[in-house]
Amino acid sequence: MKIVSINNQKGGVGKTTLSFNLIKGLAAAGYRTLAVDNDPQGNLTSCFLENELTLSANVMDIYSGQTVKPHFVSKGLDLIGADIHLAKVAEHDFEVIFKLKEGLAPFSEDYDFVIIDCLPSFGYLSTAALYASDLVLIPTKPTQFGLSGMSDLLDLIEKMRSRLNGNLTLLGIILNLVENTVICKEFQSVLRKAYGEKVFETEISKSVKIEESPTLNQSVVEYEPQSKSAMQCNAFTAEFINKIKVTDNGRK
Ligand SMILES: Nc1ncnc2c1ncn2[C@@H]1O[C@H](COP(=O)(O)OP(=O)(O)OP(=O)(O)O)[C@@H](O)[C@H]1O
Ligand SMILES: [Mg+2]
Repeated sequence: MKIVSINNQKGGVGKTTLSFNLIKGLAAAGYRTLAVDNDPQGNLTSCFLENELTLSANVMDIYSGQTVKPHFVSKGLDLIGADIHLAKVAEHDFEVIFKLKEGLAPFSEDYDFVIIDCLPSFGYLSTAALYASDLVLIPTKPTQFGLSGMSDLLDLIEKMRSRLNGNLTLLGIILNLVENTVICKEFQSVLRKAYGEKVFETEISKSVKIEESPTLNQSVVEYEPQSKSAMQCNAFTAEFINKIKVTDNGRK
């Protein structure tokens, strides 16, 4: 079981949108996948459920040390969701940072991937996700504000790796909300120069279809299979799987 955090303290870069499409893509490829919503906004939960009140597994239970039976979404895809009550966890004592790892441990034989959609801030919840994870994937957008927090995030990941979780590896950085403008191309090139092969080859363009599809609880591949966005999301999933294999081989 590989646990992957989708993390960026910057808001609105597409963490949830890409988590959702990736999770659907992994499940469609036959991987047993557990989606974990680690954000009190509960956006990932809303992507999967027509009615959030039907949620039967809440990440709050994990943080309070209870056992959880994940919510069945579809074949090979389960969810541990979240709602606004999760915000209270951030006020608890620091021990919450260990709870997510402990709560996910019993599932080690049940899933190939656990994908954790993180909230847009540093703090206990974000630390809990990084402590629980093998890998981190960072979505960003090619704008000045999109790039400005990147070195702080990479510093945090390195501190987590050296002090708390020696297993933690940066899987990569994925560019989202890409537009065909001069300024966008400039930032793409700055990012690629700075972070080299850590940046996914696949880029996800800004598209109305990607924005619309979660409102119907569908990935863009389900919603508009022939669209450019669907092709990009398929390429993203394939590159994600491939990078995980390369990282694994590097560790052996
Ligand atoms: N490739 C895309 N094309 C068009 N719209 C997109 C794309 N990616 C994300 N969006 C839209 O941008 C907004 C922010 O996306 P999303 O909620 O996934 O970001 P986030 O990083 O999870 O935000 P937060 O930090 O609040 O959790 C949403 O309205 C989403 O529909
Ligand atoms: Mg989000």
